Formats: sequence, C-alpha cells, structure tokens
Amino acid sequence: MSSPKKASSRIRPPVLLINIGQLLTLREPKQHRGPRRGKDLQELGIVEDAAVLCAGGKIVSVGKTHEVLRDPRLKKNPGQVREIDCRGQVVVPGFVDSHTHPAFIQPRLADFEQRISGATYEEIAEAGGGIRSSVEAVRRASRPELSATILAGFKQMNEQGTTTIEAKSGYGLTVESELKSLAAIRDAAANWPGTVVSTLLGAHTVPREFQGRSSQYVELVCSEMIPHAAKQRLAEFVDVFTDRGAFSLEDTKRIFQAAAASGLGVRAHVGQLSETPLEPLLPFEPASFDHLDQVNEQDIRELARHNTVATLVPGANFFLGLEKFPAARKLIDAGVPVALATDYNPGSSPTPSMPFVLSLACTHMKMLPAEAIAAATINGAWALGLENRKGSVEAGKDADLAVFEIHDYRELPYWFAASRCAFSVVNGSIMTNASSSKLE
Ligand code: NIG
Ligand code: FE
Repeated sequence: MSSPKKASSRIRPPVLLINIGQLLTLREPKQHRGPRRGKDLQELGIVEDAAVLCAGGKIVSVGKTHEVLRDPRLKKNPGQVREIDCRGQVVVPGFVDSHTHPAFIQPRLADFEQRISGATYEEIAEAGGGIRSSVEAVRRASRPELSATILAGFKQMNEQGTTTIEAKSGYGLTVESELKSLAAIRDAAANWPGTVVSTLLGAHTVPREFQGRSSQYVELVCSEMIPHAAKQRLAEFVDVFTDRGAFSLEDTKRIFQAAAASGLGVRAHVGQLSETPLEPLLPFEPASFDHLDQVNEQDIRELARHNTVATLVPGANFFLGLEKFPAARKLIDAGVPVALATDYNPGSSPTPSMPFVLSLACTHMKMLPAEAIAAATINGAWALGLENRKGSVEAGKDADLAVFEIHDYRELPYWFAASRCAFSVVNGSIMTNASSSKLE
C-alpha cells in the first residue's frame, strides 16, 4: 500500500545480522517458478552460521557470516551499520499473514460464551450474533478510532514475527463504512513500518437492512463499493464469503466481474460451512481460496493445475472448537499450493499469532514444520501477488526478517502458544519486542 506518510520511509541505517544459527532463506528451488507445491514446500534453503546485510529497506547480501562480513559495502560505511549478533538463533523471512479481518471494534464475547454452551457458528449468527453483531460499533466508530484498533492489531501480529499483512474490511456493510474501514486500514498502515495489502470485503454478509433483498445488496457492492474503493485506491483485492447463508456462486461471479472491471484482484472465503464449487470461479484467477474445510476431489485436481493459493486458517477451526480441520495433507500431496494465515477476526479466530497457526498446522493438519513455515512465508507472498518482494531472504527482496529465540527451526511450531520472537526487521527497520531482552 502506498502512502506519503509511510513510517518505513524514514531513514533506516544498514542492519547486519551475524552468527545466525539457522537462516531459513526459502530461496527458490532450482528449476522452479510459481507457488510452492508438493515436496518443494519442504525446501527451506537453510544456511547455517549465516549473516544478512540490509540497506535502504532491502536485503543486499545473504550467506555465511564470514562471507557477508567481506561485503565491500561494510568497508565503505564502517560505524554506520547496526550490527546484531544473533548468537546461534533462528532467522526466518517475516511471516506473510495473507488473511486477516482487523477492522473491528469489539471482541464478540457473547458469541464465545454461547458457543461454549453448545451453539454453532451458524446458530449464533441466526440468533443475532455473528458478523452482523460487529457491524453497529464499526458504523458508529470514527475513522481514527477504527484505525487505532487496527494498528494495535498490526503491532500484536508483528510481535509474533509477521511483517506483511492482508487486511480486509467487512464489518461496515454500507458504502460509507466499508470505505471508512479501508481508509482506516490505510491510516494504520501509514503508521506501521510493515507492508499492508487491503481487501474490500463488502460481501461479508447481507446486512440486516437488506434482509430478503440480497441481490440489491450485491448490486450495491458491484456498482458503488467496488468502483469507489478502486478509484480512491483503497483496496487491491475484493473478497466474497461464498458459502451457505452468505453469498451464492452467482453473486460471487457478479462481484468478481465488477472487481475485474475496476482492475482489482479477487479472492474468496469458500467451503467453510458447506462445499463451495470452485471450478466455476477459476476463470477469474482468484489469488486465493481461503478456509477450504470442505473441498471435492475434482476441485482439488483443478487447484493443482492453477496458481490460486489454498489458504488454510486452522485458527478458526481451533477457536470454533471443531474436530475437523482442512485436509492439508491431501491438498499438498495432490500438488495444490497451500498457504497458512491467522484469519485474525473477532468471531472465529481472534489470534494475531502465526507461530500458533504453524503449531495447529502441524498437530491438527499433519503438515511438517518445514511445510508450515514455507506456507506462512513464500506461499503467503504468492497469495498476495508479492512473491517478488516478500516471503524469502534473497538479495533484492524487502528487508523483512523475524528472529526467534530457538536453535532449531522445528521449535517454531513445537513451543505452541509461546512468544519467542525476539525482534523483527520490517522493511529495514528494527522492531524490538517489549518482552524480549535479547537484542543487544
Ligand atoms: O473468516 N467466514 C467469514 N468470515 C470470518 C469470520 C468473521 C466473523 O465471524 O466475524 C472467517 O472466519
Ligand atoms: Fe476470514
């Protein structure tokens, strides 16, 4: 997202990380292009006793510590470089959280208690809770109030190693409050050094005042929300909740057409509550299909032939107390490119933590730690069209790194619900974590 006031545009002295125990470069495997599939998802490109030099917000040199220390740029500017000894710890590309809903005001504690007492996500929504119950507070909120809440969410995600965030609107559901939500996302992004990709999710649910007139609401999304968001450059993608009780396949096609006409990319929430047919949506080349708790064999075969990323969000399954998780193994083994994201939102997944999502992916979806890490970095970047800038540690890419207080990358998902991110480098700026004393 571009902004004249971008926090990361301030002067950033070069940063040199040395003595990295395991640097997970995620560099592109040989003879490979496209999002990671199958066995390639396990290729972390590990360099031991490594170093990374960043300058001007970019990675400029990557290799063994003794090699990087010979970089002529270091000789030219001695004393100006911020050198950090990583003392054998693990460094990964900053996580790319490619699916979040941070534009809300309040937690949904009544939903939480009702679910504990046995109600399902759909029953809660029918009884007046769910997405619609987050709408009123967002409509009432001022743009600065909303943006402060969003920024707080970005900071919490960053404390867990996330440096790039896809942020959706979707709790306003009027033209004015969806655009306000997107503007608030832009304001928050301008005050955070990380990278934010905005998505218009006007088609999150049909608002109460359009009950029984859903096609008129879809028309409003297509003829007003999308063109305005595009014209004001407030969104890069349009998302639709294509599922039982939300929007139909036909609604989704109309919305995707409108998005394409306005030059915006598309993505969709699919197969969370019921099986959404995916093949009819593939001609729109969605950047991702997200959730995929239910997906049929034919659609899995189709996904394996496309670059649309299957973004799995097991935090939602965990928080909704579901026994069933998305069939990650089946998707990966069939050659579907899989990403992982938090789905940070007040209803189904109030977690800012990518490491916790990695733990869930390993324990509940049987992904290997290496697969989970690739899904949360380079494949997240592919899901946002940022594969040339994000998701791997390679010269020329943005200087986004996360340093963890561990010595083996498999500890990342192993210490579940822990907070071991010592600090991160975010577009070249160092972001320390309050709880960590490890940055000298
Ligand atoms: O991704 N499925 C639709 N949207 C969100 C839930 C949003 C909410 O409950 O507030 C999701 O799970
Ligand atoms: Fe979501």
